[in-house]
Amino acid sequence: MSILVTGGAGYIGSHTVVELLNTNREVVIVDDFSNSKPEVLDAIKKITGKDFKFYNIDYSDKEKMDKVFKENKIDAVLNFAGYKAVGESVQKPIEYYTNNVAGTLNLLDVMRNNNVKKFVFSSSATVYGKPEVIPITEDCKTGGTTNPYGTSKLFIEQILKDLYKSDNSWEIVILRYFNPIGAHESGLIGEEPQGIPNNLMPYIVRVANGTLKELSVFGNDYNTHDGTGVRDYIHVVDLAKGHINALEKLEKEGQGLYIYNLGTGKGYSVLDIVKAFEESTGMKVPYKIAPRREGDIDICYSDPTKAKEELGWVAEKDLNQMCKDSWNYINKK
Ligand code: UFG
Repeated sequence: MSILVTGGAGYIGSHTVVELLNTNREVVIVDDFSNSKPEVLDAIKKITGKDFKFYNIDYSDKEKMDKVFKENKIDAVLNFAGYKAVGESVQKPIEYYTNNVAGTLNLLDVMRNNNVKKFVFSSSATVYGKPEVIPITEDCKTGGTTNPYGTSKLFIEQILKDLYKSDNSWEIVILRYFNPIGAHESGLIGEEPQGIPNNLMPYIVRVANGTLKELSVFGNDYNTHDGTGVRDYIHVVDLAKGHINALEKLEKEGQGLYIYNLGTGKGYSVLDIVKAFEESTGMKVPYKIAPRREGDIDICYSDPTKAKEELGWVAEKDLNQMCKDSWNYINKK
């Protein structure tokens, strides 16, 4: 039996494939390299010493995906294929809703037709909108997303809830990621944003290596300990491992729809991150204070207790390791 991983050459997908292979699972990857590179597949093989099946296709293509299900014995699907750039989603709502929402619907339809009903979905802390309570638990209110990317995650969560209600032989885990950073310790896979990065850590590493001049810190008048935005940064390898726990939960528990936060439960500000990065790498990160970025919130960090109690999962890597591994990846390229 194999695990089908859509978007398996992407940032979180590739790290999860490594963990799947390390735990001796058979893997089938579907990726069309729309936001990733073929070299990633070789890197995964190098890291794990293991092989997998690969299809260069669009995950939303029903006919081609049906063939993948017919040619392989698929046990469960992990869906990482999706567009994820917040700013771009505002410019291209049709593309985002088509790829993320319609794409997932097509995938679920093909799964149903092939009687495969184990599904792990990559959701995001963004579904909580502007959180009313910190730390955020899974039963906090969702909604109030401020961009089509975030809304696409919210819509898919609702679709999954409706699907489960209609047929509770489905086995679904929704994982709400907080802010993944870092890279595999080998430095062979990591985050590869196209163009100028939007997210904090990819920007910081490019300032440190001189590709970009200085970091703009978006706002220093937030209601936080130093005025800059606070987030729950989680090492991508910890996040990847959370998917193994999610699969084990489905193997043990079976039918149900389960929702978990994947975060560390700790909040760090932008300036905390700059300081931690400088200390753990010895590199300087020049920065200036810039105006707030539209749609940003003050504070967002998780209460990860439910994942600990029900999945037996906790994030193990600290901020120092996250900074070191982010830096190691960009240096090795
Ligand atoms: N920031 C800067 N300068 C930059 C980039 C970011 O000061 O150049 C600040 C932001 O204002 C924010 C913090 O760094 O306070 C983190 O920003 P990111 O863009 O790295 O991450 P976000 O929290 O905005 O968003 C991320 C993902 C989303 C996801 C969300 C979930 O990009 O996909 O986390 O909470 F939805």
